[in-house]
Amino acid sequence: MNDRFLRACRRQPVDRTPLWIMRQAGRYLPEYRELRSKVDFLTACRTPEIAAEITLQPLRRFALDAAILFSDIMIPLDAFDIPMTFDPGPKIDEPIRSREQVDRLRARPAGEAVPFVADTIRLLRRELDGKTPLIGFCGAPFTIAAYLVQGEGKEGFSAIKRLMYREPATLEALIEKLCESMADYLRLQIDAGIQAVQIFDSWCGILDEADYRAFALPGVQRLVNAVKDRGVPVIYFVNGAPHLLPAAVSVEPDVLGVCWRQTLDIVAAIAGPDIALQGNLDPHVLFADGPVVRACVADVLRRVEGRPGHIMNLGHGILPDTPIASVEALVEAVHIYGRVPAAVS
Ligand code: CP3
Repeated sequence: MNDRFLRACRRQPVDRTPLWIMRQAGRYLPEYRELRSKVDFLTACRTPEIAAEITLQPLRRFALDAAILFSDIMIPLDAFDIPMTFDPGPKIDEPIRSREQVDRLRARPAGEAVPFVADTIRLLRRELDGKTPLIGFCGAPFTIAAYLVQGEGKEGFSAIKRLMYREPATLEALIEKLCESMADYLRLQIDAGIQAVQIFDSWCGILDEADYRAFALPGVQRLVNAVKDRGVPVIYFVNGAPHLLPAAVSVEPDVLGVCWRQTLDIVAAIAGPDIALQGNLDPHVLFADGPVVRACVADVLRRVEGRPGHIMNLGHGILPDTPIASVEALVEAVHIYGRVPAAVS
């Protein structure tokens, strides 16, 4: 059993730094593109055999230390029956901007709305056979709300900020409903065999600290608490928000995942000794040649050298046109420079 990843989440000694890659299953892999030419994205997410196959694709190529369930942060919204398409990101038919729309939202239990997620997890646990741990995930309630209110991904997500200042109670009511539903969704994943969960807060960085504390953080805290009772490590990924890290650590996740904007030595000083760190190579580094990739990996590792609890990752999802050779260089560099000579494993 390769348990480096789970040990690092708990800040236990490891023989070398574990590595997984955000969006490790995706369009940079020819075998993913081949499969997607035959089936649309939502069908792939909703069909256990296909979702499991896509989850396993990167593990067949690279010696990674964790698998992540192939799905999307918008999938559990099936519980609310919100019509949605993907092109390539999510598009909501009717963006949610009024109190009436929020009041009409009713969530079905995740077990009834997205049973295929539990089936995919069970299938994967059998296939992985205890050899590689399986990460589950959900979106942070504010980040999901940003898509629902905007109707699509859009730089700045202006619509949710307008709603926040104009009708704060409407946004709070929306986030409250998302929070309940995501807690239920994470419990479904854990009951099916997920071994760690990551909460993706991709868009909290559009807020200042006061609004983050008021609108985004309470929902994350509730999700962290709901998972902690189950004994599964929780990673809180805070994207694009170095200014929010002091507030983010207050929810006490097992692991704080960060983007590439702040170096890990500075993040470590903010997080203190009781939280493991995940990250944070800029995904664009993978467009450079091998020696540059290796030097950048070495730099990330050096910044947390000797500090228990580091999981190597990119600072955001791998880009669709990333060369495979660069991913190989990344894996090799972590295997060489991430070795911990004196560790007792
Ligand atoms: O990491 C993995 O390998 C697991 C799969 C995964 C996907 N989406 C598959 C996907 C995960 C963990 C996500 C999370 C997700 N989805 C986030 C949080 C992470 C982040 O990027 O900040 C967000 C914001 C979404 C919403 C979403 N889904 C967007 C913005 C897009 C378009 C992205 C792009 O790069 O163009 C998607 C589509 C999506 N989700 C794809 C994949 C592989 C591409 C779909 C395709 O095959 O056409």
